[in-house]
Amino acid sequence: MRRTADFLPALRFRWLTPLYDPVLRMAIQEGTFKRRLVEQAKLGAGACVLDLGCGTGTLTILAKQMHPEAEKTGIDPDPAVLVRAREKAERGGAQITWDRGVATRLPYPDGAFDRVVSSLVTHHLTRPDRRAAFREVRRVLRPGGEFHLLDFGPPRTVPMRILAAVLRPLERAADHFDGLLPGQIEAAGFISVAETGRFDTALGPLAMLRAVRPASAG
Ligand SMILES: C[S@@+](CC[C@H](N)C(=O)[O-])C[C@H]1O[C@@H](n2cnc3c(N)ncnc32)[C@H](O)[C@@H]1O
Repeated sequence: MRRTADFLPALRFRWLTPLYDPVLRMAIQEGTFKRRLVEQAKLGAGACVLDLGCGTGTLTILAKQMHPEAEKTGIDPDPAVLVRAREKAERGGAQITWDRGVATRLPYPDGAFDRVVSSLVTHHLTRPDRRAAFREVRRVLRPGGEFHLLDFGPPRTVPMRILAAVLRPLERAADHFDGLLPGQIEAAGFISVAETGRFDTALGPLAMLRAVRPASAG
């Protein structure tokens, strides 16, 4: 059985974790993408939402601020980022459940969530773990529930192709750059998988995806 400790931290090395929030704020307009992701997820009143690989909780807290009536849970295997997420949420008065766990073995019953959101996490997973994680996301979503994802995507411009070539050996993002993510999500049993947005950033090309767990059993 794999340990919860088997994961790639937010900035790859644990000692860099304190720099994660400032780096993201400076390097990319993270608020813009995350806001777009929350808007896309259309969180209704009382919706149960899981932020998979929540890190320092920026997306989870933003979702809570934009939809205070929805129930939010953030999960991440790294205790160091969860401490930061908790502190940020407490400072902002946001009531959020923070759990420790890995995407490949989610500690929730079948159909527990209306939405699963995730940003910049799937390139931390190996291909087999990513496939297992997508199956877990499907399992914990209720029939008709939706998965909203933001991560690296195919480069469409010369600067983005150059950045992707630099990042390819450094990150587990080859499948992202090669446009394989939608197929991997479909293979996990999702329907209506679609790319809904693209952003060229200083960290590389990002893509936003949406997928639906079929409403009928199966
Ligand atoms: C780049 S950070 C993104 C954090 C946050 N979602 C955000 O957008 O700021 C990647 C996160 O994925 C988490 N992670 C790594 N492996 C994971 C796994 N197997 N299951 C769930 N999360 C994982 C890391 O601990 C880290 O917090």
